[in-house]
Amino acid sequence: MTTYTFPEGFLWGSATAAFQIEGAVHEDGRRDSIWDVFCREPGAVANGDDGTVACDHYHRMPDDVALMSELGLQSYRFSTSWARVRPDDDQFNPAGLDFYSRLVDELLGHGITPWVTLYHWDLPAALQSNGGWTNRDTAYRFVEYAEAMHGALGDRVNIWTTLNEPWCSSFLSYAGGEHAPGHADRREGLHAGHHLLLAHGMATARLRELAPSATLGITTNHTVADPLDPSSPTDVDAARRIDGMFNRFFLDPIFRGAYPADVLEDLAGLGLEDAIQPGDMEIIATPIDVLGVNYYHGEAVTGTPSSDYAPVVGPDGRLRGNPNIGSEWVRSVSRGLPVTDQDWEIQPEGLTRLLVRLHEEYTGPAGIPLYVTENGAAMPDVADEEGFVDDQDRVAFVRDHLVAVHDAISHGADVRGYFVWSFMDNFEWAWGYDKRFGIVRVDYETQHRTPKASALFFRDAASENCVRG
Ligand code: BG6
Repeated sequence: MTTYTFPEGFLWGSATAAFQIEGAVHEDGRRDSIWDVFCREPGAVANGDDGTVACDHYHRMPDDVALMSELGLQSYRFSTSWARVRPDDDQFNPAGLDFYSRLVDELLGHGITPWVTLYHWDLPAALQSNGGWTNRDTAYRFVEYAEAMHGALGDRVNIWTTLNEPWCSSFLSYAGGEHAPGHADRREGLHAGHHLLLAHGMATARLRELAPSATLGITTNHTVADPLDPSSPTDVDAARRIDGMFNRFFLDPIFRGAYPADVLEDLAGLGLEDAIQPGDMEIIATPIDVLGVNYYHGEAVTGTPSSDYAPVVGPDGRLRGNPNIGSEWVRSVSRGLPVTDQDWEIQPEGLTRLLVRLHEEYTGPAGIPLYVTENGAAMPDVADEEGFVDDQDRVAFVRDHLVAVHDAISHGADVRGYFVWSFMDNFEWAWGYDKRFGIVRVDYETQHRTPKASALFFRDAASENCVRG
């Protein structure tokens, strides 16, 4: 048995997102977000689930924070709901701002460091009616929202993330059709991606003015795409394309002030350049202090044309539902690794490779640290009569990924913390309540919370600053 001890000060935390846990969607002045609207579309979300009640965190917040404290969380990464604090794109809502202010007080009262994410996908529906992220104006509205959040919390919150996973809120949402607003238009996907990056850059610059000593960053989601057949030029090119759209489309502008040349070539003629205005790339490259990394799984990809691939074309002639803009024929295929309850491949060493690569190519040269801001797994949980879940599969998943983080650190990556996704079972977007990621079980009938074996494992690892395996 080896003990993997983390560097002193390594931050142990857990994460959630507003729409996934809060509920109370029409209380105290909150209005629809694009996710409320999307949930009403037949077939959009598994079982027709929605966020109306979710984990009822809006009403149970003090108890939830007390539980975080019992479980030894050092930091809590949560998102603020734009639709709660500025429901109509008009007035800010004092009750909405107050909720987050109380949350921050509660966390600080328990010695837990608040880590705020400003955008985890719940755009106010009022903004979507003007085009949402396809409209450049949304980026300017985002800056106003960031300013308001800083006004409400900036005296107590020091760590700010602008966006969570812009790949999801652009390509998967406006081109893939799988997330709100559920569009399937490649041009929209690309414009949303650019405007999200612009919003990130402008908000970072503004927050820097307001809070020169704050820690500012963004969280990007990543894949580690391996060619299914490394000797096949088509598969190697498929892996390059997926890496380009998933990883480099977002990181290159942020760290290098330009979209990658090969990605621009892949996207030629699809309209990205129409969204880019003079000066945008400089704004997007506004320096950040920390990069948040979300990693769930690796994948093997192939570009070999196959008889079962047929692009889905809608009546208007547009491609339907594929986030791999410009590379729609690339497919992710099983290579026989064990999978989670969502069929996501379990590949901890992919996390080591990812972190080392990010450090070497992006964050290391800029002198900034990495944090794993999300990692975790949906598992087929079974609760006993007391509601306890002995989720040894999730314990193994989290432990193996922590060992992978440790390996990355040993290889020189500057990784300063790990946030397990998620603190509690919640509304898993298109999967509804079907999939459970929490280290705390939520009984949705009673709203009772029960820490799982993985929560106890995580508590011990955090308190000892090490894992064994
Ligand atoms: C991440 C998101 O992409 O994946 C989380 O940031 C999400 O919000 C998690 O819950 C799991 O994905 P999904 O699609 O199962 O909800």
